[in-house]
Amino acid sequence: MFENLLKGKRGIITGALNSNSIAWKVAEKAHAAGAVFTLSNAPIALRLGELKALAEQTKSEVIPADATSMEEITALYQKSMDVLGGKIDFVLHSIGMSHNVRKNIAYDSLNYDYWTKTLDISAMSLHKMLAAAKKLDAISEWGSVVTLSYIAAQRSYPFYNDMAEAKAMLESIVRSFGYHYAKEKKVRINSVSQSPTKTTAGSGIKGFTEFYEFADAVSPLGNASADSCADFCIALFSDLTRMVTMQNLYHDGGYSTTGVSFEVMEKFIAK
Ligand SMILES: NC(=O)c1ccc[n+]([C@@H]2O[C@H](COP(=O)([O-])OP(=O)(O)OC[C@H]3O[C@@H](n4cnc5c(N)ncnc54)[C@H](O)[C@@H]3O)[C@@H](O)[C@H]2O)c1
Repeated sequence: MFENLLKGKRGIITGALNSNSIAWKVAEKAHAAGAVFTLSNAPIALRLGELKALAEQTKSEVIPADATSMEEITALYQKSMDVLGGKIDFVLHSIGMSHNVRKNIAYDSLNYDYWTKTLDISAMSLHKMLAAAKKLDAISEWGSVVTLSYIAAQRSYPFYNDMAEAKAMLESIVRSFGYHYAKEKKVRINSVSQSPTKTTAGSGIKGFTEFYEFADAVSPLGNASADSCADFCIALFSDLTRMVTMQNLYHDGGYSTTGVSFEVMEKFIAK
């Protein structure tokens, strides 16, 4: 579909856990588009062993890094530049985790230690990845950083729990860091606000299946798949979107601007 669109570009792709992961699809498409890149995930996730298959398929090296550790992120950039032979042109930040969600803790009884961890892993890690890159001057001019968000940053979704605050913070970092990085180094930073998607992180949310169906019924185009999300990320890494930065871009089949759909209304029609 976009052969050679990323030819000559070097990247870092984080967050591929298994073949359902959004990052996994991004890696497959970036490879097909001619890019070279390293793959990274938390050491604990790498123990699950699935990333090796993706690395072989895309001829990439795996570099473990916990995204909350400045030291490990710095090493990730240094090793990636060594392996790939120069500065990085694109970064995918595809990282999210909440113990409050995992343990099904109600929003009004949140565990604050878990919440701190949620914010560190799911939002502050983007700041850390950007700060480490800037310090090393590791990202090329017109380079592109993409992170993944969810509409619970703007609206209330009761089941999304403390991840809502994490996404709000994440999108704010996109704008704030986006300004500084664009001014000083012409580096672009955007978030993609994606439809509910059947991945490990997505399916871990209580009521996900029902909500997935609801969002699909609301969205005029239906839910956007992980595959199409990866297409969008490739477009954002490419030179075709050079003037796009500091944006939260909805990739949701029209969900975010739909008030109600006939499919949803039909469920309330008296039979
Ligand atoms: N699935 C959805 O419905 C959906 C919708 C909108 C946005 N998103 C976002 O997309 C991103 C990717 O999630 P996904 O749906 O592909 O699920 P996923 O579970 O496949 O990916 C989440 C990744 O985060 C990694 N991770 C967790 N803690 C980490 C740490 N400390 N250091 C480094 N990596 C760490 C995990 O190992 C995993 O690979 C997340 O930010 C998620 O919030 C997902």
